[in-house]
Amino acid sequence: MKVKLAGLELTNPLIAASGTFGYGVEFEEIVSLERIGGFVTKGISLQPIAGHPPPRILQTAAGMLNAIGLQNIGVDEFIARKLPQLARYPKCKVIVNVFGYTVAEYIEVIRRLNQASGISAYELNVSCPNVHAGGMTFGSDAGSLEYLVGQAKAIAARPLIVKLSPNVTSIAHMAQVAASAGADAVSLVNTFLAMSIDSETRKPRLSNVTGGLSGPAIKPIALRMVYETARSVKIPILGMGGIVTPEDAVEFLLAGATAVQVGTASYADPRAVERLARGLESWCRSHQVEKVSSLTAALEVPRA
Ligand SMILES: Cc1cc2nc3c(=O)[nH]c(=O)nc-3n(C[C@H](O)[C@H](O)[C@H](O)COP(=O)(O)O)c2cc1C
Repeated sequence: MKVKLAGLELTNPLIAASGTFGYGVEFEEIVSLERIGGFVTKGISLQPIAGHPPPRILQTAAGMLNAIGLQNIGVDEFIARKLPQLARYPKCKVIVNVFGYTVAEYIEVIRRLNQASGISAYELNVSCPNVHAGGMTFGSDAGSLEYLVGQAKAIAARPLIVKLSPNVTSIAHMAQVAASAGADAVSLVNTFLAMSIDSETRKPRLSNVTGGLSGPAIKPIALRMVYETARSVKIPILGMGGIVTPEDAVEFLLAGATAVQVGTASYADPRAVERLARGLESWCRSHQVEKVSSLTAALEVPRA
């Protein structure tokens, strides 16, 4: 079940996605942190962020809408309080999701994280749809993305994964830009910019008006984006968007992902990532797949 990506060796390809798994420690009593491929922290910024007021989470027909506004404790608190607790799980791969309002902030967060131990990689969040500056602004403009990734790569002491926004015309092109600027891997997709309206009150249901859509509703689009990206870049892909079953994970691997992340599913079942890790192993056994890595980009497209 092992997979290698961007210099990391993961126990299996199942990773808990950013923003849906806290700082990992909150899950230590319900998930065996060393039995999953790893987890990505909530987006960490230079200063603590309070986030948007509620309502900021909504259930939708086949998923959820969120506009958390990147609530987090800030990099110093993360290093002082959360990272030391994770040292109890030395085999667990901790990927830190990094966020900034400016390039200088992204760089300063990475510089501080570089000094800390117990981190396996950075995931640069250039794709948050719920903040007015930073985030998606970087991920939806090729020039800004190239500059940010180049600067981050120059200072990062660990592998640099760039998390791409699906709210662009061509995510494959943005992946190429990230790769040529030095990204070691790309993860996709973040949430799709969306909204919900209450017809009775004539008001938006989220305090931020718009939010990000995730869960099974986005899976077919996310899968297509992973497929297109895999044909455009050579660096590994961490695929995600609506994964709930082991078969969903297999589909992302076949489309070209080396590993997958699971987000919204953890809201319905906090054990989802571990359950999926076991489920994927059973799937491989029952389908005579000796190495899960052989599934990556093994999609058979019929010739016309
Ligand atoms: C409540 C919530 C908070 C999120 N926060 C972050 C975040 O801080 N940084 C980030 O890169 N992605 C964040 N995401 C996006 C997820 O990591 C993931 O890319 C997205 O939800 C698609 O996967 P899923 O359909 O399995 O949830 C968040 C998603 C949700 C639902």
